Amino acid sequence: MRVVDIITKKRDGGTLAKEEIAFIVNGYVDGSIPEYQVSAWLMAVFFKGMAPEETVFLTEVMLNSGTRINFDGIPGPFIDKHSTGGVGDKISLVIAPLLASVGIRVPMMSGRALGHTGGTLDKLEAIPGYRTNLSLAEFRRGLAEEGFAMTGQSKDIVPADRLLYALRDVTATVESIPLITASILSKKIAEGADALVFDVKYGSGAFMKEKSQASALAHSLVNVGTALGKRISTLLTDMDEPLGNAVGNFLEVEEALDCLEGNGPADVMEVSFALAANACVLGGKASCVEEGLELCKRALESGLPRELFLANVERQGGDVKRLLEMRGNYRSQYVYDLKAEQSAYITRIDAYKVGLAGVYLGVGRNRVEDVVSPVAGVLLHKKRGDWTNVGETVMTAYAKDDNSLREALSLLKDAVSYGETKPSNSDWTNGLIASQRRLDRTGRSS
Ligand code: URA
Repeated sequence: MRVVDIITKKRDGGTLAKEEIAFIVNGYVDGSIPEYQVSAWLMAVFFKGMAPEETVFLTEVMLNSGTRINFDGIPGPFIDKHSTGGVGDKISLVIAPLLASVGIRVPMMSGRALGHTGGTLDKLEAIPGYRTNLSLAEFRRGLAEEGFAMTGQSKDIVPADRLLYALRDVTATVESIPLITASILSKKIAEGADALVFDVKYGSGAFMKEKSQASALAHSLVNVGTALGKRISTLLTDMDEPLGNAVGNFLEVEEALDCLEGNGPADVMEVSFALAANACVLGGKASCVEEGLELCKRALESGLPRELFLANVERQGGDVKRLLEMRGNYRSQYVYDLKAEQSAYITRIDAYKVGLAGVYLGVGRNRVEDVVSPVAGVLLHKKRGDWTNVGETVMTAYAKDDNSLREALSLLKDAVSYGETKPSNSDWTNGLIASQRRLDRTGRSS
């Protein structure tokens, strides 16, 4: 087999066989195929796309490039939630203990903040002492005891994705539905879940800005994941405005605790319940989404999810007493209240601009090696649709230092739009794309 023939075939719109995809991916991982040829192949895939069965093959090949975790000896079901990332998205911290409380185990391997989007690991590490580098044995113990554990991704999981993603990043080939599908699914399947719930976000703060793109990704995740034997639900959710009222590492831990105590913001609760209810159906804990919703609401009221969250904090080295004492007062001293410029309705708070301001403030990072601040962030006192009088505080910014505060403020100011007319309410979870469909290996419904 010659690499150039595979590149030519894809460049001309052909459909690659599994052996051809394996040849190129494995050759890249073992160093026998140079970057320039893999880059050309990625660009050909970017322009010509992949048929569903090619995406299934690519996912399988990538999956087999590393270790697959299994939870033998621990009763299931094991269901993970994956979000395509956003601003103020602390749903993982809410949904993991919530699902654990209804008997679904959640093996959660998460990422860090990058660019304008936040990362679950950075949020958790804002809790004093909390460790996100668990050994496999520690991860399994957490799953067995509390029903969930939260850690970073092991280096042995899908090494092909680490290499390919880095190459895509510098060859302008990230935004390809088949490549994204294979990247996400290979990692999630390798992490040992039986079923997966995806939160595919659209809007300014999302990876996919257009709803149509998000919908295409959602369908692809369902089709390919189901062809690989997994039960999948995918929700499309709004990420045009930050989720909840808190954007920032410790601020979001606080808000997640509010949610677990029944005092969470409406949008965070709606998205959390919708994802959790779908997971209940996938895991056989409910016969329909409505029943799943009831189950999750009752579970939250029982207080068990909060107890499990705090038990997880303790298990992973966090100081529960300090966490609770720090609530409401662990803030940076570099603080600024952004006041409303007019008496009007807030018609938009642009998630992308708030997320980018967060990078300056110290919530996120531009480069992987940047250090984030636990005490930086933005508290939104008003959201889309709220009335504000001139001079009222719309948001409070907390920065890692004075300089970064100045840089963030113009972005935060720009993020807010005002209008005379109250905007219609956002429908946070307006698209359950598909659930548990059975598809054959070519992606057709059967
Ligand atoms: N997230 C991933 O894990 N992979 C992609 O390709 C894009 C987003």
